Amino acid sequence: MEDLAPKPGDLEPIETASRDEIEALQLERLKWSIRHAYDNVPFYRKKYDAAKVHPDDLKSLEDLARFPFTTKQDLRDNYPFGMFAVPRQEVVRIHASSGTTGKPTVVGYTRADIRMWAGLMARAFRAAGLRKGDILHNAYGYGLFTGGLGAHYGGEELGMTVIPVSGGMTSRQVALINDFRPDGIAVTPSYMLAILDEFRAQGLDPRESSLKVGIFGAEPWTNAMRAEIEEAFDMHAVDLYGLSEIIGPGVACECVETKDGLHIFEDHFLPEIIDGESGKVLEDGETGELVFTSLTKEAFPIIRYRTRDLTRLLPGTARSFRRMEKVTGRSDDMIILRGVNVFPTQIEEQLLKVEGLSPHFQIELGREGRMDSMTIKAEALADAADEASRAQMADKLKRLIKDMVGVTTTVEVGEPGAIPRSQGKAVRIIDNRPKGDI
Ligand code: DLL
Repeated sequence: MEDLAPKPGDLEPIETASRDEIEALQLERLKWSIRHAYDNVPFYRKKYDAAKVHPDDLKSLEDLARFPFTTKQDLRDNYPFGMFAVPRQEVVRIHASSGTTGKPTVVGYTRADIRMWAGLMARAFRAAGLRKGDILHNAYGYGLFTGGLGAHYGGEELGMTVIPVSGGMTSRQVALINDFRPDGIAVTPSYMLAILDEFRAQGLDPRESSLKVGIFGAEPWTNAMRAEIEEAFDMHAVDLYGLSEIIGPGVACECVETKDGLHIFEDHFLPEIIDGESGKVLEDGETGELVFTSLTKEAFPIIRYRTRDLTRLLPGTARSFRRMEKVTGRSDDMIILRGVNVFPTQIEEQLLKVEGLSPHFQIELGREGRMDSMTIKAEALADAADEASRAQMADKLKRLIKDMVGVTTTVEVGEPGAIPRSQGKAVRIIDNRPKGDI
């Protein structure tokens, strides 16, 4: 793999600033952001008045903990444009995240917000090892989803040649990678696996592709998956995190030279980790629910938003910004199986240890009598697809999950192609438990 580490002069001054400088900037911006939300969004004014807190109470970064949280439900209650802090005429872009239930969450951007976002995505691509003049194959979906356009504007801002492929039409993805010879690819990790399958189906060696780096995000993925993708394509795989409510992709990104967790763009987003039950702010290093406050957004300021993502904060390494550990999962994705907490990423980690299994999988939940049951649906690679090998692999995975995760599961290993392929975010859990008593 190529050395893509930044050269002196590649970074913005704030990326290597002292903690004092970063915190001073955060405090100044936080005061502005809370005031902006309070003055212009009736939701915040009502909530803060009821909680007897006021923007003037914010004298230090720690004072933020006195302000109430904002939740997805709050955004739904203010559907569609009730959370905007500027007249709708100032909003030049809308995005929305579909979610699995109810109304989508709608977010908006002013011209300055779009510029700021493009700057942060450019910073993320640079952290991933891409530079002006590189070619970017962008396979994040274009549309209401923030992935496609978010990466697109960032790529252009950095000065790359952006190919706006969007998701889907996998054989065309492979043809374009072969013909245009991109340096980087931006795509969900699960869809990258579908692209990998297609390379092999076309008899092409993925290691011979032009790709030097992939920027993967929008869903949880493990370091085991990173190793799998890096080996298959002989390229770097770095993690990119974000969510529509905060801005989209470009909230945090790994650096290619360290790949040790995601540096949070703390000059624009202030992270906290809280105990999901009590709401108490936890120390750096402790695992809990990630909460974000926007510091500079105009159209859609968001204060103490509960992301539901589980991680912990770690000190800066390649940059001065603190890191968040790779997200292991969302609290909503956690399966409680007979008292044991299980995340799909834990299953992914074990599955990738079994030789002969493809990396595609789904988890089916059912109910047997009064007990929940979990079936892991995996599939064999073409050269290990006979029945005896499949039974052996199923047995091996079942044992690994029992030993390493602590739950008894049923494992079914199907023929190559048995698991439906993702074209964006993978659907990992199929919940067949009777509704009403989940
Ligand atoms: O997924 C934004 C994005 C696009 C991020 C492209 C990265 C790349 P939403 O659709 O609003 O926005 O979904 C946000 O996806 O709360 C996490 O649960 C999950 N997620 C996003 N990035 C990661 C990641 C985009 N790197 C939700 N690791 C978030 C784990 C991630 N989970």
